[in-house]
Amino acid sequence: MAEERLAELIAAAVAANEMAYAPYSKHPVGSAILANDGEIYAGCNVENAAYPLGQCAEATAVGSMVMGGGHRILHIVVAGPGDHLCTPCGGCRQSIREFAGVAGAPVTICDHKGNILLETNSAELLPLSFGPENVDMTRS
Ligand code: THU
Repeated sequence: MAEERLAELIAAAVAANEMAYAPYSKHPVGSAILANDGEIYAGCNVENAAYPLGQCAEATAVGSMVMGGGHRILHIVVAGPGDHLCTPCGGCRQSIREFAGVAGAPVTICDHKGNILLETNSAELLPLSFGPENVDMTRS
């Protein structure tokens, strides 16, 4: 990806991190997706007093992409709160896989300032994944 576009994607994830609603964990996270339509879709984590109902930043970004008309993840950035790697949770890996395909998409993990901590790929994060191609639609 062009360096400028990646910088834009990282900036969107950092801005989303600043919007996080994380009063319980105090672990703000932002995420930004470059989608097949050329748009950038961002999301933050949204927690809830009923803790299990909290939603991760990546899930919010995926929802934003679908609502905006995007349907394929070309690259996703996650901006966590600090020096520790904020890699997507298991559920989010599955959610990313749905829209990044079996070959996967680049995943860039940053801190809250946008410093890159890790560059990986969604297929590497979720090997032998189950996805749309594995759903047997032949029975009705
Ligand atoms: N969280 C994310 O939003 N994305 C991740 O990749 C890991 C964790 C959120 C969930 C929860 O609101 C907080 O971070 C602490 O787990």
